[in-house]
Amino acid sequence: MNKQLRTAIIAGNWKMNKTPSQTKELLEQIAPLTKDAKCEVIACVPFVDLQTALDATKDTNIKIGAENCHWEESGAFTGEISAVMLKEMGIKYVIIGHSERRQYFGETDLTVNKRIRAALNNGLKVILCVGELKEQREQNITAEIVSMQTKIALMGISEAEMKNIIIAYEPVWAIGTGLTATADQAQEVCKIIRDVIASMYNQDIANATTIQYGGSMNDKNADELLSKEDVDGGLIGGASLIAEKFAAIVKAADNN
Ligand code: 13P
Repeated sequence: MNKQLRTAIIAGNWKMNKTPSQTKELLEQIAPLTKDAKCEVIACVPFVDLQTALDATKDTNIKIGAENCHWEESGAFTGEISAVMLKEMGIKYVIIGHSERRQYFGETDLTVNKRIRAALNNGLKVILCVGELKEQREQNITAEIVSMQTKIALMGISEAEMKNIIIAYEPVWAIGTGLTATADQAQEVCKIIRDVIASMYNQDIANATTIQYGGSMNDKNADELLSKEDVDGGLIGGASLIAEKFAAIVKAADNN
């Protein structure tokens, strides 16, 4: 089974939640619960919480990620944060192309590609998010949409750089809605993404790439989703804000 070749990764995406003091508190709750995890554990937190998060997880196995970065290194981009800045702080991961960035902040496949380029140039590992809207699933174009998002996002990314790419399949209709893709739906699309990577690179790279599912993953449904051959982890929103639920998902990843 190729699943064993890949690193299972459970990442929290805290979105616009938690102040610095709340960040410290939540990470101190999570750390003892996940200290024996075999899988990789990441918390992606708001920019203003990054330093607190790094400090709070210094002696733990929890890695810290940002939720976005700009494609330029510096300049007149009010309100943006560059990959250079994240790198200097000691941040190792960054989410790029989350559907909320695409929906509310004009993110496109091309800007996703540019941000990935900047992140990789600065030694960051990228969690690239792709996923279809409800209407697109209803029109039976999920495979086309997700394939196109993946191909454009990865334009110009070399074989060697693929070891720093994690992909999160996040059906937009399942995010924050309580609706979860069934385990079979998640498996089907994660496999489609893996086949796209095989066609762009080769089967070995496809087999080595961690592909997560995200969208209302919780302590109840994680085990079934993570049992699927091509679902290597999770990108967790709401449930990552509750230490016990997040830790239960980490346990589910370790059991699969
Ligand atoms: P929820 O788990 O809250 O549905 O969010 C998923 C998500 O968007 C993670 O990036």
